[in-house]
Amino acid sequence: MNTLFIHIKELLQTREISEVKVMGKSMSELPHIKNAFLRVKDDAIHSYGTMSSLVIEATDKVIDVTGKIILPTWCDSHSHVVYAGDRSQEFVDRINGLSYEDIAAKGGGILNSAQTLQDASECDLYKQSIERVNGLIKLGTGALEIKSGYGLSTKAELKMLRVIKKIKKDSAVKIKATFLGAHAIPKKYKDNKVGYIDLIINQMLPKIHQEQLADFIDVFCEKGYFSLEETSQVLQAATKYGLVPKIHVNQFNSFGGVALGVKHKALSVDHLEVLSKEDVSVLKNAETMPVALPGCSFFLGIPYTPARWLINSGLALALATDFNPGSAPSGNMNFIVSLACIKMNMSPEEAINAATINGAFAMNISEDYGSICIGKKASLIITKDLTSYRQIPYHFGSNPIYKVMINGEFIE
Ligand code: NIG
Ligand code: FE
Repeated sequence: MNTLFIHIKELLQTREISEVKVMGKSMSELPHIKNAFLRVKDDAIHSYGTMSSLVIEATDKVIDVTGKIILPTWCDSHSHVVYAGDRSQEFVDRINGLSYEDIAAKGGGILNSAQTLQDASECDLYKQSIERVNGLIKLGTGALEIKSGYGLSTKAELKMLRVIKKIKKDSAVKIKATFLGAHAIPKKYKDNKVGYIDLIINQMLPKIHQEQLADFIDVFCEKGYFSLEETSQVLQAATKYGLVPKIHVNQFNSFGGVALGVKHKALSVDHLEVLSKEDVSVLKNAETMPVALPGCSFFLGIPYTPARWLINSGLALALATDFNPGSAPSGNMNFIVSLACIKMNMSPEEAINAATINGAFAMNISEDYGSICIGKKASLIITKDLTSYRQIPYHFGSNPIYKVMINGEFIE
């Protein structure tokens, strides 16, 4: 199949394959071509350029997109989209004055989701989760990282990861799987954290390796969850199985999680709502991608990741949804891009870079996703008629999308 888009008002994020992330000042540059064409052959981008440079050749379908913008689909590098039920009761509890920490302390939060997930069948969990993923595709997400971490027992963690594997197989979007057994300490191990870490390392990890269920390893490195030492133990064990670290750090406290991530060559360090000078300086000498999750800050009313500080320090930044039932129950990347502009003072160019090319880097898929580049997958957002790409973040809460193409096929 050979599809040709013509008269594209703006073709955004056109880059060479060698560009895998943007940092500091370059984050404010968003390369684009006005009045462009884009040719798709099978599942890949075949060619693009200005309309005046278009060469006539055999084409199955010509689509005139006058007035519309085309950009690569969003790369959401941090989500917990596989979960059972919801936590809307806790949402109401928070409205009535309890904090996220209060709810967790009385056995709610992650442990609440773990109970619901343990009670759900694999089939039911798959059904609930694939429906969410399908909803996200319509919102322009073309690549999605999904974590386990609501199982918290060998059986339930494997159930989650098998569901993620099935979504990977069935869904048109690119999926990466992350093992997050160290998300919370399950009730049974309340007074035996050492025992739970032993279970993760000696029982869960070998089984996950055997079934090839994960690409990445994650730990919730936070006070009341997993310490630096415990995080280090899990990362070390997982790295031996070839899992690449991507960790939750600095959501509520800064105590060395960023440096630990960098030491373990983490692909990304995520959250970073609370940052110290040491955290920023350690990131300057690292390949590790900082990832902000503004949907979580918005929903919990906690500080936003200080994007200006990071970017003005010359660092890169990626944006992701953190889609989960407790702290960020939305997977809408369009809204995340808006939030980044409105609440984190990122420019539209910086936010779009953070949600595409830098998101792809944070999930190790730069080869095929994150920019408009010859040979990369034809996973595209075609917007409604817009005056400029700035309208994507500007009209917060509205859907800017006309159509989504994933691997050369339109999503109906
Ligand atoms: O990234 N912080 C840890 N994990 C999730 C929240 C999980 C939950 O509340 O269910 C997060 O925010
Ligand atoms: Fe998370």
